[in-house]
Formats: sequence, structure tokens, C-alpha cells
Amino acid sequence: MKILLTGAGGQIGHDLIGTLTASGHEVVSTDLAPRPPSHAHAQSKSWQRLDVTDPAATKAMFEKIQPEMVFHLAAILSASGEKNPTLAYDVNQTGTWNVLEAARLTGVKRMIFTSSIAVFGPPPSGPLPDPTPDDVALHPTTMYGVTKVAGELLCAYYTKKHGVDCRGVRFPGLISAAMPGGGSSDYALFMYVDAVRKGGYDAFARADTRIPLMYMPDGVRALIEVAMADREKLSRSIYNIAAFSPRADEIGQSVQRAIPEAKFTFSPDPRRQAILDSWPKSLDDSAAQRDWGWKPVYDLDGMTDDLIPRVRRMLELGAILSTH
Ligand code: SER
Repeated sequence: MKILLTGAGGQIGHDLIGTLTASGHEVVSTDLAPRPPSHAHAQSKSWQRLDVTDPAATKAMFEKIQPEMVFHLAAILSASGEKNPTLAYDVNQTGTWNVLEAARLTGVKRMIFTSSIAVFGPPPSGPLPDPTPDDVALHPTTMYGVTKVAGELLCAYYTKKHGVDCRGVRFPGLISAAMPGGGSSDYALFMYVDAVRKGGYDAFARADTRIPLMYMPDGVRALIEVAMADREKLSRSIYNIAAFSPRADEIGQSVQRAIPEAKFTFSPDPRRQAILDSWPKSLDDSAAQRDWGWKPVYDLDGMTDDLIPRVRRMLELGAILSTH
């Protein structure tokens, strides 16, 4: 199948490209940035420059490529989005509109939307239920979350009104041996990266911070499973998916199983801590389990065992990483 990715240079694209090409799909990667110099990104034969905030360019790209399916990954994450809400609105809100419009106008049949736990926020009536189900009132606290809520609604709207079959998942914080860009959940990966290269990490989150997390191989598999599911099986457009929800200090303990000398300290950054505190502690993903058989493979320690050698390799290959 010919599949187009937007935002292919990001953390999800890094792993999704390889999985799709290994399954025999033809992947056309698009991003504002040039192809990153990683082996994973090299697996996409075609790398094209696309700014999703440009409606004409987006439509022209879809016309030229004629993809059967689009994975819309381009987004500004939560912490970066609070630094530059205008950019977050342009990329996440206008960009999603442009991608859906381009799909409608050029006859793309299926579009995959990537939402996240950032759609949630504490309702005025009290804290979020734990675990948090799919259908609660959405009160996001970040521009990123606001635009993801709107994206979810647009996804359902285009499915009903225009026959662009749009579906997707709400990702937990995703962890992999590829650097995320400006997320509030990044402390989790940084605990691994700095334990390997510096013997410890001073986290920007409190020790008792607990949010839903997921290892990227499960995240990529979930995205592909929902993408390929028969429409008749889907009772909704966007699904919660869950794997594990450790406290930050429990992540540290898991890392210490492999690197016993690693030291972790916790110096919460008020801005990012407030975002983390607004998110669910864990997610109820029973609809995904029921409708398309979702089930994670990795728990926290399973992820740690697989991830640490990969982080070592990433660092040996000379990745320049900032973990602030
Ligand atoms: N992981 C993303 C972030 O931190 C949100 O889901 O922004």
C-alpha cells in the first residue's frame, strides 16, 4: 500500500517508517525538515519537504503522491507549544485541517490521526477518574491539548460528512531510543539517556509523578492495528490505549536494575509539572481491547531491558542530546 507520513522526521516516524517498509508498504515521508541522518529514516525511499500549514502545498503533495493512506504525525508537543502557542495552533490545528481537506479534495480514503493524553485535563467538578475512560469531558490545559481535541472532532466529522475514513489513538507518553521534541513526558526517556551517559538524571518532574507511558514498539503497533482495522469493527474514531503508569521514581528503580549505580534526583519545573499533573494517571483502554484486540506487549521492566542497549547504541552513534 502507498502510505504518506506527515511529520515523518519526529519520534514516531523514526520507528513507524521501518515497521511499515518491513511489511512491504511503500512509504513516502514528508516533513518540514530534511531527512534526519539516522538508519531508520533512511529506510523510506522517498523524503519530501512538506509544510502542513500551507494548504496549497499539502493538496499538491497529495495530488502528486496519491497515497492510499495518510499517517498525520506532524505536531508541536505540549511543552514547546506553551512556549509558542501560535506555532502550535498553526501546525496542529490549521495543519490538521489542511491535511483533512487535502485528503477530501484528492480522494484519500483513509487518514490516521495521532492524539494523546494531553486532550484530558481536570474537569471543574473534580479530578479525572482513574483510570480515565474514553468518554469524559475534555478540559485540556495546553494549546497542544486544545488542538488535539479539535483534531479528534475533525477526524470524526470528516469520516461522517466526507467519507475520509479517519481513525486514531490517544497515545500515552511514548518512550524510544529516538529523541522526542519538546514534550512534557520527556523526563521518562531522559532518565534512561542520562543514566547511560552520565550515571544519573535530575528529573524536571516530581518523584511521585504518574502518567500513562508506552514503549514505542507497542505504540507503532497500535497505530498500525487501528489503521488496518475493518471499519465495521470500530465503534468510535479515536481510542485510548494503555500500557503502564509508573511513578517517576519507579522508572528510576527499573533503570537501576540494569545500571545499579545510577542516581536520580527530582527538581520539578513548575511549568511542565503543572501539565503533567493535569493528565490522567492511567487510561481505560477497554474499547480498543474490545474493538480491535489491542494489547500491549511491554511492561516497564520489559521496556527497560530492551531500551537500555538501544540508548547505548544511539549515544555511540553520536546523537547530540539535550535532556533539559
Ligand atoms: N508526550 C506528549 C507531550 O509530552 C503528549 O502526549 O507533549
